[in-house]
Amino acid sequence: MFVTLEPCNHTGRTPPCVPAIIAAGISRTVIGAIDPDPRVDGGGTDALRAEGIEVDVGVGSGEEVDPGYFHHRRTGRPLITLKMAATLDGQTAALDGSSQWITSEEARADSHRLRAEADAVVVGAGTLRADDPLLDVRLPGYVGHQPQPVIVAGNQPLPTSARLWERNPIVLDGLSDLPAGIKSLANRGLLALLVEGGPKLAASLVEARLADRGILYLGGVLAGGTGRPLFDRPWPSLDAAKHVAIEKVTRLGPDLRIDFTFR
Ligand SMILES: NC(=O)c1ccc[n+]([C@@H]2O[C@H](COP(=O)([O-])OP(=O)(O)OC[C@H]3O[C@@H](n4cnc5c(N)ncnc54)[C@H](OP(=O)(O)O)[C@@H]3O)[C@@H](O)[C@H]2O)c1
Repeated sequence: MFVTLEPCNHTGRTPPCVPAIIAAGISRTVIGAIDPDPRVDGGGTDALRAEGIEVDVGVGSGEEVDPGYFHHRRTGRPLITLKMAATLDGQTAALDGSSQWITSEEARADSHRLRAEADAVVVGAGTLRADDPLLDVRLPGYVGHQPQPVIVAGNQPLPTSARLWERNPIVLDGLSDLPAGIKSLANRGLLALLVEGGPKLAASLVEARLADRGILYLGGVLAGGTGRPLFDRPWPSLDAAKHVAIEKVTRLGPDLRIDFTFR
């Protein structure tokens, strides 16, 4: 039997797989990755081996297939990826709020693929008001999973005419306890979150050390002046800068994609 994740030996929402594998008379299992869930964590493979079943582990890249799951089992939090787009000189929007589009069609198609991989796409109330986004995957011929939309709301009313209401968004109160709001998404099974802004929400997530990864698209365009920043916070001194690890730089048509992780 070939399986992406270690079969478990306990009853959770569903009965355990290990007894079913034994009962089915399977003689060898090839497992992509050990399940980091503390209730499993090698227990499933031990139980299979104890029955004389041959077990090969780590042959695949289980974690890459479902990074949100692995992150959640290790930390108790969903995996948060901040997606941002800026001009080459680091501006996300002009002073009048316009930002569509700083990046090319290639970069935007790439960001739709990020949505397809996410369980949920999250925006702040400011972005909902400014951009009226749908947060769905729009790629030619795409018929797969659509991510759950999430709005982080604050003090001001949300626009009643926003197109996003058609997609039944989850609305979180982001001001009383943002970490608890994020955790509540995990309780609904939303483990890989793509946060698409805006600068106020992005700054709050970084400040609360909730952001795990970043994907920054830099458009081949210069603002040539000061518009709106990527993070809506003062930068008081060099010491306050956040160190990140740049993992990958990709060229997308006229733009760049920079993948990084927060330390
Ligand atoms: N280039 C890009 O990648 C990109 C991406 C997205 C958006 N944008 C641009 O960004 C602008 C909107 O951004 P924004 O910074 O004004 O708004 P935002 O970050 O989208 O949303 C901020 C609002 O969310 C609510 N909120 C609730 N809890 C919060 C918390 N803990 N931290 C921060 N906000 C919280 C507040 O709503 P209340 O106001 O109701 O209190 C707050 O004003 C638009 O111009 C949009 O076009 C650019």
